Amino acid sequence: MKQEKCGKFYFCYKHFNRKKTILLSYFLILIFLVSCSGPQKAAPAEKDLIVVGFSQVGSESDWRNANTVSMQEAFSVENGYRLIFDDAQQKQEKQITAIRNFINQGVDYIVLAPITMEGWDTVLTEAKAAGIPVIIVDRMVDTDDPDLFTCWVGSDTRREGDLAVKWMEENLTAPLNIVHLQGNIGSSAQAGRTEGLEAGLQNNPEWKLVFQAPGDFVQAKGQELMEEVLASGIDFNVIYAENDNMAYGVIAALKAHDVVPGKDVTIISFDAAHDALKLVLSGELNLDVECNPLHGPRVRSIIEQLERGETPEKFTYVDEVYFDSSNLTEDIIASRGY
Ligand code: AHR
Repeated sequence: MKQEKCGKFYFCYKHFNRKKTILLSYFLILIFLVSCSGPQKAAPAEKDLIVVGFSQVGSESDWRNANTVSMQEAFSVENGYRLIFDDAQQKQEKQITAIRNFINQGVDYIVLAPITMEGWDTVLTEAKAAGIPVIIVDRMVDTDDPDLFTCWVGSDTRREGDLAVKWMEENLTAPLNIVHLQGNIGSSAQAGRTEGLEAGLQNNPEWKLVFQAPGDFVQAKGQELMEEVLASGIDFNVIYAENDNMAYGVIAALKAHDVVPGKDVTIISFDAAHDALKLVLSGELNLDVECNPLHGPRVRSIIEQLERGETPEKFTYVDEVYFDSSNLTEDIIASRGY
């Protein structure tokens, strides 16, 4: 039997074969990994969790889905929260019911992404009477009493509309015949972007609105409306779609009619979601104005301030930019969280 001396130890190659060497290596690696990982953070106990009820509009768009994920990740158990998530499927009455359920459950905070601006006074008064702070996120509410909610964080959608109009003034040659696909009527996202375009129409006499209809921020409706425009024979050279999903629908309809999107007609959109930015790079979408959906960490930071007894800003607007072929790269797309 071959033996080899190593200090005062002898290794026997017959018994200490290859299989055992591999097992021993795995064992040593495991010990190494466990010793490197340090003490494990214990999940907070259920009784210590901060309970947040979140009433979400629905799942009408890529933006909305990214927003839901952002909220779910921010309000995880590991972060010390229990999130009660309610999808209102685009119905205000479902949002009102959800808020009443949150009040009955005695949540610590209510977060509301309101489908429309109007119609919240009664239920927000109920939340206030129950002593539950309400944080409004994404879209704005229009209440008689601003003290009915604690604070708001979201996008300046009028500014988004103004950015789009400024880009049109600088990059397009009049006359413009504009097809306008709106988001759901009465939401601040629709109102701001529509007001921006209306101001642009007033200031530019050679711009004409040739078609306007709500597509509710939904891709299928955007496609349907574009089919309607194409079938009607209306003359147009610009499409102003108030979100990316409606723009996807527009592009599909145009292609089906052999109209080249981004070349035969200019397409303007809002959100700057990942797939839409790819279309800006490929030239099918000409302008995408950002609307940032990653509100989870922002709302969490507001709740942390409230937990510390601080007073958060009443209104926080997120900084947003726009993308066209002059400033967008693959690296920018890859670096964005949605
Ligand atoms: O309120 C934000 C808007 O709602 C986004 O532009 C749209 O995509 C979403 O559904």
